[in-house]
Amino acid sequence: EHPLNLHHIIPLDFSSAPNLPESHAWSLSKDDHDDDYLSNSNGSPSIPIIDLMDPNAMELIGHACENWGAFQLKNHGIPLSIIQEVENEAKRLFALPADHKLKALRSSGGATGYGSARISPFFPKFMWHEGFTIMGSPSEDVKKIWPNDYARFCDLMENYQKQMKVLAEQLTRMMLNFLDISNGENKSQWDIGSSSNMCGVVQPNFYPPCPDPTRAMGLAPHTDTSLFTILHQTQTATGLQVFNEGTKAWVPVHPHRNLLVVNTGDLFHIMSNARFRCALHRVTTNKTVQRYSVAYFHCPPSDYVVFPLVGGVNNSVARFRGVTVKEYVGIKSKNFGEALSLISTSN
Ligand code: SIN
Ligand code: FE2
Repeated sequence: EHPLNLHHIIPLDFSSAPNLPESHAWSLSKDDHDDDYLSNSNGSPSIPIIDLMDPNAMELIGHACENWGAFQLKNHGIPLSIIQEVENEAKRLFALPADHKLKALRSSGGATGYGSARISPFFPKFMWHEGFTIMGSPSEDVKKIWPNDYARFCDLMENYQKQMKVLAEQLTRMMLNFLDISNGENKSQWDIGSSSNMCGVVQPNFYPPCPDPTRAMGLAPHTDTSLFTILHQTQTATGLQVFNEGTKAWVPVHPHRNLLVVNTGDLFHIMSNARFRCALHRVTTNKTVQRYSVAYFHCPPSDYVVFPLVGGVNNSVARFRGVTVKEYVGIKSKNFGEALSLISTSN
């Protein structure tokens, strides 16, 4: 048994778990697991697929952010070969024996390294998931795992992060243009569309096959703290679901070779004065297929002040007070699920 205070950081040694341990057994309803993980249609509407080369891409992206807080992006310009190599490196890392991976265990207050989902402490049960969080160069963490063979992993991840950042800046500019609030006092916020000091976090995730998907959660429902997140998922299994606020249904996001998933996070929700949704999403498990994903979280630097851009066609009353990224992360780490209402001006 792990000491209790580390319990939320150390993933289960999944290879030695033929049955679902009580610690990982959730009480889920029929709607909460996805028996349909290899099928492509369950009749519900899906998040929009948007071609970045479409002359109307800005409008389409803006509307997807308003209606869903998520979309799938086509012709995103990231070479498939790089995405595939990053996925392969993630597989190589997660395939290591548990004691090997634990050498790079994220410390309890730490930001980077190997471990369970950061949202774990807020839930009574553990998730069927392991991840590896990378900020800047991962070499300090990766050297602990592969002392003589860390360069390949690091170079790939750093290159991926760089390419994601360029794409993210393009998307940011389109989203800000859509909001049409480039006037006067909002001018200073435009630097997030071009600033090179944006903080990009790359996180490969692994969801091993699960002995009882009807009682397990890959990732519990959450919104991301980022401006937005760009996600690659393996094609072999679904698992990611986005909550449709209109129909109150969980909608699977089916993987496709050429598509990246984009979901808006809390920070763009604040900046858009709640015009953009921050998509509530979760990950289900399945019995047979290994699922991998690679998330890129796009965030301003920690001392950056995020505040609602008002004026233009937007509501002119700010619905949130301004917060630094650091302050917001702190509020969310103590009040998961309440952070947005805690900075709401109607409180
Ligand atoms: C996440 O929510 O950060 C990961 C989602 C996924 O693995 O599909
Ligand atoms: Fe997420």
